[in-house]
Formats: sequence, structure tokens, C-alpha cells
Amino acid sequence: MTPQTPQADTILARATPKAHQAGHEIQPFGHLVRMPIALSERVCSESVANLNQILADTITLRDLYKKHHWQLVGPTFYQLHLLFDKHAEEQSELVDKVAERIQLLGGVSIAMAHDVAETTLIPRPPKGREQVAAQISRLLHAHEIVLKETRAMARKAAESGDDGTNDLLVSDVVRRNELQTWFLAEHLVDTPLARVDGTED
Ligand SMILES: [Fe+2]
Repeated sequence: MTPQTPQADTILARATPKAHQAGHEIQPFGHLVRMPIALSERVCSESVANLNQILADTITLRDLYKKHHWQLVGPTFYQLHLLFDKHAEEQSELVDKVAERIQLLGGVSIAMAHDVAETTLIPRPPKGREQVAAQISRLLHAHEIVLKETRAMARKAAESGDDGTNDLLVSDVVRRNELQTWFLAEHLVDTPLARVDGTED
């Protein structure tokens, strides 16, 4: 074996990953950097604050779908297991679009569960399992919270000239949440499975 020289130690040290590094923040949450997108700081700041609220609620709604996808019970298990997962994936796409718009406006997007929990307006569900009708009702309530705030924030963005935010909120967030609401709500119509309502035996 070749004895190690000081030079070899230096070379190896250069090739060793420098893990466990800590650093200070380069942009604190709630502070904006100016981006060359022809929008005033005031407009960007308002849009970032509104988008972070929608982001926290969309992350929560996505996680609520996953919770119900896993904890589901009953004869509609298979179809709802698939539907809840599809909606969770679609909400995940919205999460990414909203978060990236916050960054392009010069803001800092909310990201971690602790911060999401402090910010979301969607009520906290129990840790345990719920029946299907309660799960769907809870999801519908969450969708309605998102729809109400998103429409109001979309109008504000349009009034401020932030057309990109308005388009994202209307074309993606509002339309997707409305569609998912429809697919959920029809499951809560109390209709018999195997006979026409009101017929005699
Ligand atoms: Fe799954």
C-alpha cells in the first residue's frame, strides 16, 4: 500500500462532500426582490400575499385528499380511492403553479407543513378515520373556502393589472376546484342503487 502523503490528504479533502453546512437566509419570508416584469412592488407584494394564502389552502386540500384516499371505507372504496388520488394529483399541480408564480413575482413561497398549518383557513380534520359522507362533506367545504378566496383575489389581481396572476387563479385554480366539486357533490345525492325511487316492489 502506498503511504499517504500530505498532498494526497489535501486532494481527498477536496473530493469529500462538505455536509452539515448551515447558512443564513438569503431572502426572508414576506420580503420581496424586484423582478423585471413591469409590475410595481405594491402589486407584486399584494399578489404574493394572496397567492401564499391560496398555496397554504391548496397544500392542505391536497393532503386532505390523500388522507381520505388512504383512510376510506365502504362499498364505494375502489372508485373513491381512485378519484381522491386523481384530485390529489391535480391539486399538486396547482401547488406547483401557485408556488412558482410567487417566486417569479419576487416573493418567497410557503412550503413546509408547519408554516402551512399556521396559515391555512381549512379546518383541521381529526387524525382518525371518518365515514365517506363526512369525508366528502369536509372536502366540499375546503373547496368552497378555496373558491371564495380565489375569486376575490383574482378580481383584485385584475384590478391591479396583474393579468398573469388573474389568469392562473381563474383558468387553473377556480376551474379545477369547480370541476372537482362537481365530481364530489354528486356522490352525496341520496339515490337508490338498484331501483328507481318511488317504485313499488
Ligand atoms: Fe395510493
